Amino acid sequence: MFKTKMTELLNIQYPIMQGGMMWISKADMTAAVSNTGCLGTMTALSFPEPKDFAAEIKKVRSMTKNTFAVNVTLLPSFRKVNYDDYLDIIIGEGITVVETAGNNPERVIGRLKEAGIKVIHKCTTVRHSLRAQELGCDFISIDGYECAGHPGEDDVGGLVLIPAASDAMKVPIIASGGFSDGRGLIAALALGAEGINMGTRFMLTKECPIHQNVKDWLLNFQENDTMLLLRAYRNTERVARTPRAKQAFGMEKSGVPIEELRSIISGSKGQRMYELGIVDEGIITLGQCIGLIKDIPTTKELIDRIIAQATEIVNERLGKLVK
Ligand SMILES: Cc1cc2nc3c(=O)[nH]c(=O)nc-3n(C[C@H](O)[C@H](O)[C@H](O)COP(=O)(O)O)c2cc1C
Repeated sequence: MFKTKMTELLNIQYPIMQGGMMWISKADMTAAVSNTGCLGTMTALSFPEPKDFAAEIKKVRSMTKNTFAVNVTLLPSFRKVNYDDYLDIIIGEGITVVETAGNNPERVIGRLKEAGIKVIHKCTTVRHSLRAQELGCDFISIDGYECAGHPGEDDVGGLVLIPAASDAMKVPIIASGGFSDGRGLIAALALGAEGINMGTRFMLTKECPIHQNVKDWLLNFQENDTMLLLRAYRNTERVARTPRAKQAFGMEKSGVPIEELRSIISGSKGQRMYELGIVDEGIITLGQCIGLIKDIPTTKELIDRIIAQATEIVNERLGKLVK
């Protein structure tokens, strides 16, 4: 029904992917999304021990026959990462699609391409997209200012960034940041993308493995309840505007070195919050589309609804506008 380069080249039914989400996109989330006919994505770095990562890949395989991807995040982090250990597993386990993000994919792309893996590089500028294309990536996932995670430092929204990337690139574009429903999917296709990537919307699904307290809390957030953190360190992150995030922002503004924020922004605090439901224990990355999210459906209900709404927009609303 929605046949695009994204569905064709990635062997999926619908042009929708779930972007890697640290501590969240493990087997349950990934397999649930892939079972809907979209592309689920595991995050490699959610597994500090590579052997646990290998076991989780096997778990996803036991839960879905469909294509799924692995996210390899190349951002600077407090933890030292040996990427080759993760690549050994990705290649050894026969993964067919990898989402790279956070930095130039140069240090990993050679091995991935040699192994015949399709690489989706997620970035936030046309300049970085062109570089990733030159390095041999197969798709660019272009992340606008609205997105959860790292929107970059240029603050260009999707409405401009997606067509700008689509005009500049030869490889297909996936639109990322701010998408949560069928309206967004059709808008992305109209702007020149071959499909969409979503993070925040998938957090509020039944299969997302975060504590119900956190999901219920997030349901009350509006589109203006996010903020940018860590800009002073050129590692900007969009997060939920919470007392904890405001405390971190105050420290950032006072000019402390980033290490002093470690106890507040550390991933282990976020992990505890997700697992134990202690709201505001850690910093939570969140996109502006949280303001459009009003319920916690199953991933299947969500995708069925997005596809039905997108189809209706094309057949009913748009189709009738042109005479
Ligand atoms: C809780 C959460 C954790 C995320 N963790 C990562 C990550 O580890 N690596 C990454 O490349 N992107 C990460 N992202 C970004 C998503 O993969 C995706 O690009 C982004 O959420 C798209 O914007 P949206 O939230 O507006 O849909 C995360 C997003 C969320 C909501």
